[in-house]
Amino acid sequence: MQANDVSTIAVIGAGTMGTGIAGVFARAGCSVRLVDQTEDLLRRAERNLQSSQQVLQEAGLVSASEAAAALGRIQSTVDLAAACADVELVVEAITEDLAPKRQMFATLDRLCPPGAVLASNTSGLSITKIAQATRRPELVAGMHFWNPPHIIPLVEIIKGDATAGDTLQLLMAIASRLGKQPILVRRDVPGFVGNRLQYAVLREAFHILSEGIASAEDIDTAMTAGPGLRYGFLGPLETADLGGLDVFLAICEYLFAKLSSAPSPPGLLADLVEKGKLGAKTGEGFYRYSSADPGDFLAQRDRAFLGFLEVLGREQKSR
Ligand code: NAI
Repeated sequence: MQANDVSTIAVIGAGTMGTGIAGVFARAGCSVRLVDQTEDLLRRAERNLQSSQQVLQEAGLVSASEAAAALGRIQSTVDLAAACADVELVVEAITEDLAPKRQMFATLDRLCPPGAVLASNTSGLSITKIAQATRRPELVAGMHFWNPPHIIPLVEIIKGDATAGDTLQLLMAIASRLGKQPILVRRDVPGFVGNRLQYAVLREAFHILSEGIASAEDIDTAMTAGPGLRYGFLGPLETADLGGLDVFLAICEYLFAKLSSAPSPPGLLADLVEKGKLGAKTGEGFYRYSSADPGDFLAQRDRAFLGFLEVLGREQKSR
């Protein structure tokens, strides 16, 4: 099967990720069945799809008629069996928990046509263990979109122990067809690549804060005004090349031993969670948040990301 042969897909789980992923496939011309457990959840997903299309439309990335056509290609349903009957691909985006994901894959294996590829959007659970719940592990792989999926270009394609090379190639080609920037994760390691990098930074940020070396605001500014700005354009390895590998080696030699290697999350984080300070969604985490509509905040975030991507796209073309 070639990427262009994929015309009918199912996305299972209409939450934050599944809804966005459904929109991405629909904009690329696929018929999409978006599945969740209740009609209420599907109505919420439809509202979220409309507002994300609106942001893309305001940014000039889709016309009003393209947005309407994309929405028209998405069929929301609670009927998993009907949704899967004639698909070429399924992207699973249900709750991040191995047991229900394995159960879902066993069911998908039963309901989907024999050649259909089954992909999981898991953030870091074992693709191999998920695939073992099916009789087609060669057709199972990770397809990890990043939040917000209608904007962030990265998609990680992850090989489980039994995933066939053809399945990986197909998913890489599909992600490119969606206008994404896929990377291949050759081994099924927890956190894949993107989250390993992200959580290495987070562990050190927690460490610096716990040690009182800098305030939360200053740690965040150190990233957004420093390395974070650079990373949109240059990855860490290219940054080292440009800085000079001799210089980076000298710094690694004295610094690596001083960085956090904590094997578990810090007390500071556990304390906040225990107090119900879960971040923006409860009004307080490391910072305090006003009670403004979270939908407005997300739309504002999406506009900022799109502006940033436009500038980066121009820079990358001129390299
Ligand atoms: P979510 O909680 O927003 O959505 C999950 C949806 O799946 C819910 O609407 C739930 O009703 C539905 N669901 C659960 N069991 C189901 C079943 N048996 N049949 C049909 N629907 C079912 O979760 P979110 O954030 O969208 O995450 C989904 C997956 O994507 C997880 O594996 C997560 O780790 C991954 N992910 C999440 C990211 C994020 O930033 N939220 C980023 C990248 C990946």
